[in-house]
Amino acid sequence: MPEQCKRRSAGSLLGDGESTENEKKMGQAKQRGSRDQRISQAIARSAEVPAARELASARSRYATQWEISSLHFFESGYYDWMANAVDGRSKVLEIGCGVGYSTLTLAQRGHSIIVIDENPICLKSTKERLEESGFSVTLHLRGHVENAPGERYEISYGDAPDGSLADALLIEGDMLNDPTLREWLTQTHEFDAVVCWLLGTHQYRGMECHFKDYGAADNFGFRILIQNSTYELADTVLRPNGILHVVDRGGFLDNERVIASIKESHREQASVTSLVVENVDYLEYVEPDAHNAMQMVFTPPDNPIDGVDLSEQFPALIAVTSTKPV
Ligand SMILES: C[S@@+](CC[C@H](N)C(=O)[O-])C[C@H]1O[C@@H](n2cnc3c(N)ncnc32)[C@H](O)[C@@H]1O
Repeated sequence: MPEQCKRRSAGSLLGDGESTENEKKMGQAKQRGSRDQRISQAIARSAEVPAARELASARSRYATQWEISSLHFFESGYYDWMANAVDGRSKVLEIGCGVGYSTLTLAQRGHSIIVIDENPICLKSTKERLEESGFSVTLHLRGHVENAPGERYEISYGDAPDGSLADALLIEGDMLNDPTLREWLTQTHEFDAVVCWLLGTHQYRGMECHFKDYGAADNFGFRILIQNSTYELADTVLRPNGILHVVDRGGFLDNERVIASIKESHREQASVTSLVVENVDYLEYVEPDAHNAMQMVFTPPDNPIDGVDLSEQFPALIAVTSTKPV
């Protein structure tokens, strides 16, 4: 079993899902005809549409939905609130850029940024968004997708970039399955901060052929696996006194025991690193109500907390800061 599976794992939910899209598809299926017809249509479709094409379409749907949600976060000042935590820290590694509103916020506040994201459509949107605002961007796409048996897909990654003098360097890569990129980052860079904000992925990720090896019981454990992997990467790429800033959406109460429990969960995640979990901060959160926004499945607490009535929790952005010791 990989080391990260022994740590905080599948108890916490994937950040986001495509509920609206799925509901729509189910509604359409109901209207299309009998169950037998639908089954034969599905069989014919799976022969025609290989996994690589399904992946492309899942990535595209994901980017479309995240665009709606993250515009709401941008306009609500949520990214500004997150970015306050890394103020004055010049060089930032961002894990997962979505469609670029978080990256734009960092760029506008003067940081130089390297991004890792698995979704090339998200990376391209981020490039356009930053360039429209006058920032220089280098985009390094390096994933090669192939169909694998059982309607699965496999991605291999090419060389890491040579380097870049742009304001932002965007790199296609996978936090779970990309040793070349990890090694390159560790050997060539030292960061003042690493941020991992609102991690989640597209609905087809479970069909990646190595998915079961990572130790996520299902898609829902995925977010914690990425965070575990982020703790490990941050440990190797942060300079002494550098910080890791992780933000999730979840139910929250401003209560000592709740805060202690969140810290404890993150200490478990950090347990195989030298990072010291120090601070928990929060901001009340309002879900976007726009049509087709990506609704959030909140991260639940790992365990009940003695003396705390969890029914009083309110939705919040919950930020945990850890420091690399000197
Ligand atoms: C929900 S978005 C959040 C993006 C951004 N931090 C924000 O707050 O707007 C999560 C991003 O993480 C990326 N991601 C998910 N799993 C990943 C992985 N294993 N490696 C790299 N990026 C990943 C997704 O493609 C997506 O762009």
